[in-house]
Amino acid sequence: MSVKLSNGKLIPIEMHKVRIVQKTELTPIKRRLQAIGAAGYNTFLLPTRELFLDMLTDSGTNAMSDNQLAAMMVSDDAYAGSESYYKLAAAVKDVLRMDWTMPVHQGRAAEHLLAKVFIKPGDVVLMNYHFTTTKVHFELAGATVLEIYTDEMLKTESNHPFKGNLDLQKFENCIKKYSADKISFVRMEATTNLVGGQPFSMENLRAVREIATKHNIKLVFDGSLLSENAYFVKQREKGYENKSIQEIIWEMMSLADIFYMSARKSTSVRGGMICTNHKKYYDLLLDWLPVYEGFSTYGGMSTKEIEAMTVGLREMTQLEVAGAGPDFIKYFVERMVEEGLPAVTPPGGLAAHLDAKRFLPHIPQEGYQAGALTAAIYLASGARSMERGTVSMERAPDGTEMYADLELARMALPRRVYTMSHIEYMVDRLKWLYTHRELVGKLKFVHEPPVLRFFFGRMEALDGWEKKLVDAFIADFGENC
Ligand code: F0G
Repeated sequence: MSVKLSNGKLIPIEMHKVRIVQKTELTPIKRRLQAIGAAGYNTFLLPTRELFLDMLTDSGTNAMSDNQLAAMMVSDDAYAGSESYYKLAAAVKDVLRMDWTMPVHQGRAAEHLLAKVFIKPGDVVLMNYHFTTTKVHFELAGATVLEIYTDEMLKTESNHPFKGNLDLQKFENCIKKYSADKISFVRMEATTNLVGGQPFSMENLRAVREIATKHNIKLVFDGSLLSENAYFVKQREKGYENKSIQEIIWEMMSLADIFYMSARKSTSVRGGMICTNHKKYYDLLLDWLPVYEGFSTYGGMSTKEIEAMTVGLREMTQLEVAGAGPDFIKYFVERMVEEGLPAVTPPGGLAAHLDAKRFLPHIPQEGYQAGALTAAIYLASGARSMERGTVSMERAPDGTEMYADLELARMALPRRVYTMSHIEYMVDRLKWLYTHRELVGKLKFVHEPPVLRFFFGRMEALDGWEKKLVDAFIADFGENC
């Protein structure tokens, strides 16, 4: 939610009271220097004790509500037939209007099962944009992943309200080129993660549905950020201003064949699920569920988390819950733009992003500019962001580096965790960093895992740039902050 102040300015406002807090400390700059070196310049490898603000992700890190916590206390820890599952299935029926629900331990588990059941070697999978784990699972099953986005998607400075739209002409072209029976499915990712949390419109989803129906192609909906996409439809799409988040979600779900989600985001827990109205798809997936996840009524999740997910699913349909991330992200992005920082616009869901190509134009992509920017952000602020650029890409099978379309540093805002003063602090430190951007240099891999290298890869800073940056910081702020 936002409120208008008497001077006309809109500010995001918390529609909740903070009753439980967790202490955090601002690690002094010299310790940050040591910590980022020990982490191999990979923010994933920083222990939280070295962080002031953890903006790595909104995955499993949102503040839960009192009702979610209370629900965990009454979970039914049965291996089979747990009452907690039936409560979840009832909530899915109400909120998503889907009949068949399968919990899984997290989003990528859903992707693994979908790949196992619906992808044949040699298939293609079409999507508005990939997510890291999605692409790996689908490729491991033998598919080629084709992203068929519109030209607008890759513009980091834009005022297009729906940069997550799928390009309909490219969709038709792909069907002609590959024939429908080679296409495992078309996947629509809500609030498209890797390109700045950008939503698609209802109009676009409806058009994708029509083409898919015409050619008998399944539409798979990745709704990890479902309520955020619904919130953007309400805010940005004509005709939806007066619809509730729930009504928008119902309309979106009526267009999907299979829905899956990482429940770690919109529903603020740690888990995931697959749902459908097609019993035959449910049955095909069910065959493999106990092999990889667990029995059908827990699917690898703790029943406590299932209870909290049930409550989270209902709560995400409330306007203030759906908007908790986007409103603060909007404030963050607009403040960065006001200060002349190269933020990705328009603001999306899940995180505020900096365009590393514009922030560090002197570093080439082979110097991993987005990775260098995340390390520099940590040094300048004590906040952990995430590289979403070339480090997050896989190499081609012959070892060639695959440069990412976008080089982004992602600063996630876990919902209901950080406040406006945290954002103001970040904007200030980022502005300082931007003034000293010439000091930031390249990174080089010293340990590179063969798959999803961004998780455990280790790098080093070339030519000692990190020390020069720290010296400049100490000259301006001293050693204690
Ligand atoms: N799909 C989307 C759109 C996601 O954002 C994620 C995870 C997944 C699938 C995989 O789900 O992590 O529960 O296995 N995104 C997290 C992030 C990791 O930080 O953006 P998972």
